Amino acid sequence: MDVLRNCKNFIVEWIGAVSLAAGAAAVGYLAYKTLLSKDKSCKAMVNLHIQKDNPKVVHAFDMEDLGDKAVYCRCWRSKKFPLCDGAHTKHNEETGDNVGPLIIKRKEA
Ligand code: FES
Repeated sequence: MDVLRNCKNFIVEWIGAVSLAAGAAAVGYLAYKTLLSKDKSCKAMVNLHIQKDNPKVVHAFDMEDLGDKAVYCRCWRSKKFPLCDGAHTKHNEETGDNVGPLIIKRKEA
């Protein structure tokens, strides 16, 4: 009878230990996926719709062509990208973000 009881206690303890180890492994895996994983599919994209068929969106301008002032979009929501059209205001209101344009202007002499 004692042998049977000891065997039963061993099985219950073993199941408890395995459950604890599995729970710890699950928590560790979730922490890894959340904090350390380099999986890019879980990260948000900045560029949602501009030239998505290109591997990299690049614009270049000659300084002489900028005029007295140029305002460039940094939120990637402008319909006139790479120029700012004010879409950053709506983006900031909807997301709590704080992005704004890059303004390049000629120094007043
Ligand atoms: S519209 Fe993007 S910074 Fe203004």
